[in-house]
Amino acid sequence: MKNTLDGIEEILLMGPGPSCIHDSVYEALSLKILGHMDSYFIKIMDDVKELLQTVMKTQNNMTIPISGTGSSGMETCFVNLIERGDPVLILINGVFGKRMQDVASRLGADVDVLEFEWGTPVVPEKVREQLSAKDYKIIALVHAETSTGVRNPAQEIGELLKGTDSLFLLDTVTSLGGMKVATDDWGVDALYSGTQKCLSCPPGLAPVSFSENALEVILNRKTKVPNWYLDVSMLTKYWEGQSRVYHHTAPINMIYGLYQALYLIVEEGLESVFERHYRYHKLLVEGLEELGIKMLVDPEYRLPMLNSIHIPDGANDGEVRGKLRSDHKIEIGAGLGPLAGKIWRIGLMGHTAREENVHRFLEALKAVLER
Ligand SMILES: Cc1ncc(COP(=O)(O)O)c(C=O)c1O
Repeated sequence: MKNTLDGIEEILLMGPGPSCIHDSVYEALSLKILGHMDSYFIKIMDDVKELLQTVMKTQNNMTIPISGTGSSGMETCFVNLIERGDPVLILINGVFGKRMQDVASRLGADVDVLEFEWGTPVVPEKVREQLSAKDYKIIALVHAETSTGVRNPAQEIGELLKGTDSLFLLDTVTSLGGMKVATDDWGVDALYSGTQKCLSCPPGLAPVSFSENALEVILNRKTKVPNWYLDVSMLTKYWEGQSRVYHHTAPINMIYGLYQALYLIVEEGLESVFERHYRYHKLLVEGLEELGIKMLVDPEYRLPMLNSIHIPDGANDGEVRGKLRSDHKIEIGAGLGPLAGKIWRIGLMGHTAREENVHRFLEALKAVLER
């Protein structure tokens, strides 16, 4: 029987995630499996927690990877913090802010939204006005809006909330490991991410972190967390303490992979990793501009790891992406929602953010567009 897996080719992943994976992470994924209660595996879990704390810049004890993709991190943050009728403010300027609105609404929260034009950032002044009109239990923001390539002002929103009772919930699925995320300094109470973007691991885990304030809210809920699998108070008993209590069977080899991916980042040094992302983002933008291609987002608000470009006049969206994939073995991302058919999204995430990848992509794009 023919094995379908034999047809897998090596593709340069330059879309919105997943990103390319370092060989040592592939090797870690294929190490011998241990039991999920094995003492050596528990040591690896403890080290993963510590590495996550370093990359997230937090002292939060409740810092763990949730079993599931980035969206499970989003669900974990909302489902643990929200009780029916809780006032929640969601700041929206793209697909993932919209997804937060959906998740919070399904939990019966009293959801207000402030919407900003896609491709532009959330404006702190508008948030300040809204906060002076109403008290919220949670203010939620997407740090790096992957659907548009916009960097939102997470630090500024955190400043607005300092000294209030509101909890700050931040999506760092695309930003973590590629640009500064200062969980404690910015006053973030609930943070989630995903493994397949700048952490350069396959999709499958969602690192989360909760502040002491957030944990106090969770431990003093009037009602049970309406989701057994994501209940942080139960997960804590598996991830913390001298004697661990089984909750669900951890995805053991994924946790090896995450360990190795975080190890690589910490070994390279956070600042060097961020600088590498920024350097090759600049190189990419220069090359694109030489080809006459325009960026969607103003320079000040551009993400280094996700570059949105206007599809040049006369180019066919699907055909160009198809040719890049078939002839050059390069994947880039299409536009989403109102930007579908209007933009391409070029990722320089984690291990993908390398000089040779920028040159290879620019040459390939030029060749495809010329044809
Ligand atoms: C900013 C942001 N939040 C949440 C998600 C959802 O993550 P996942 O697709 O891993 O569930 C994504 C995925 O692209 C994202 O970019």
